[in-house]
Amino acid sequence: MPARQGLPRRGMGIRIITDRMFGRKGVVMAAEVKAADERLTEAELDAYFEARIAGDQRIEPRDWMPEGYRRTLVRQVAQHAHSEIIGMQPEGDWIASAPSLQRKAILLAKVQDEAGHGMYLYAAAETLGVDRAELTERLVDGRQKYSSIFNYPALSFADVGVIGWLVDGAAICNQVPLCRSSFGPYARAMVRICKEESFHQRQGYELLLRMMEGTPRQRAMVQDAVDRWWWPSLMMFGPPDAESPNTRQSMAWRVKRDTNDDLRQRFVDMSVPQARRLGVTLPDPDLAWNAERGHYDFGPVDWAEFKRVISGDGPCNAERIARRRAAHENGAWVREAATAYATKHGGGRTAA
Ligand SMILES: [Fe+2]
Ligand SMILES: [Fe+2]
Repeated sequence: MPARQGLPRRGMGIRIITDRMFGRKGVVMAAEVKAADERLTEAELDAYFEARIAGDQRIEPRDWMPEGYRRTLVRQVAQHAHSEIIGMQPEGDWIASAPSLQRKAILLAKVQDEAGHGMYLYAAAETLGVDRAELTERLVDGRQKYSSIFNYPALSFADVGVIGWLVDGAAICNQVPLCRSSFGPYARAMVRICKEESFHQRQGYELLLRMMEGTPRQRAMVQDAVDRWWWPSLMMFGPPDAESPNTRQSMAWRVKRDTNDDLRQRFVDMSVPQARRLGVTLPDPDLAWNAERGHYDFGPVDWAEFKRVISGDGPCNAERIARRRAAHENGAWVREAATAYATKHGGGRTAA
């Protein structure tokens, strides 16, 4: 990426730009204006970038950005895109076995939405100068990760409801603050994605409400699915703040807006009344309202399990990646045909 693109006006003094941002326009005007042909130093560019972040302004792809910021975003956006795509698998298996035409249509729409989320996010990552095909390579050969939650199996149709309620619910908690992420394309993708995640959460909760009005066996299916998905859902927020190496810098850059522990607490507080309304028990004997804190206390998360699953040893890791790799290889002819078409018609853009 060219280092000096995207500055407001070439040669403009950094102090002027930052002062404008903090509402002191005019204070240092003429004295600080640099000659039009003067090049900004790395330190000045960095100061300009930091001032924009401090002023809560968006960073756009053509703006200068520190290499660490770009790398952090590529990692986060790619990991998010991979999670959307791999996340189609646990529920996708149930499309053919949905219990009614209506449930099939809802589930199909939801899984297709997840594919769309992956596409928006790969497109956002591409604005940072990485190639979508390269990101897919990194996923299938294990160099990049996706959310640990998708390495658990969906064993019954109740799992479809619980994934919608808890997994999409946790995704919403994580993603709503990202609508204010400092990187423009990521923030804008999040606005659209969150609207669809809200539908995902509601369809899951509504399915569970119907099942809980059903037979004892249906209610037992829901409780069993809740027992299996509750703790992995809490792990979706990532390791505790004290052990999260990237959180501090990501918060400083406003790529992230809340810490893992704060988001996890928000999710627990939101889910407890919903579980009560549903009539299910969350599998945590330590779960209790703490009037002093104004939050629910909850038991310790099994971080050893999280580490095991995220590093490849979960129930479905091998299967998820094998299927993604097979889908990528089976789709090679489509990419080749699209590339040939684009070349023939002078577009020159290669298909990812
Ligand atoms: Fe999604
Ligand atoms: Fe979703």
